[in-house]
Amino acid sequence: MTINVDDVVDVFKLHTDVYNSGYFAHLKGYLIKHLKKGELIFEEGVVIILTQYQRQTVLGDYAAVKGDYNIREIVNKNPGNNNSISILNKVFENLEKPTKIWLTIKQDNKRGINFYKKAGFIITGSKTRNCGTLDCYMMCKNLEKN
Ligand SMILES: CC(C)(COP(=O)(O)OP(=O)(O)OC[C@H]1O[C@@H](n2cnc3c(N)ncnc32)[C@H](O)[C@@H]1OP(=O)(O)O)[C@@H](O)C(=O)NCCC(=O)NCCS
Repeated sequence: MTINVDDVVDVFKLHTDVYNSGYFAHLKGYLIKHLKKGELIFEEGVVIILTQYQRQTVLGDYAAVKGDYNIREIVNKNPGNNNSISILNKVFENLEKPTKIWLTIKQDNKRGINFYKKAGFIITGSKTRNCGTLDCYMMCKNLEKN
């Protein structure tokens, strides 16, 4: 099914507690870029941007290898309806395994962190973004071969 990027933007706009006004200035272009690369998922109100590392990338004490995945975003139109976990697990089922999924999340995003822990991610380290002004965690999940 074709994804309407404006509908995706509307889902992000429901979460201004997480995304500040500056974020929206470039959001549509960012989504179109990932849509063109097949990295944008929008199913049952859940948006996921999932990319693959093109080369080994050091992430604190760990390193993602080429082919590992990175969740850039997950956003649910109706948080708490269980769709976030079910769509995420469906996406994971279709990935070639074994592999690792990495992500970075703001340390004050308690709901997001709890969500990822529930989905089997562990915190692997901390880092700052935005010139040291934003404290983040790095998280990782191993996807074993079925
Ligand atoms: C992150 C997000 C996708 C998670 O989806 P969700 O539907 O809210 O997930 P859940 O309701 O399953 O919540 C996950 C867990 O967080 C915890 N939680 C729920 N509400 C919470 C709150 N207000 N504060 C802290 N933790 C909370 C609970 O442990 C919950 O699991 P449980 O209900 O089974 O105990 C969704 O909240 C969202 O769209 N948030 C805005 C965007 C975002 O922050 N994305 C993550 C960064 S990429």
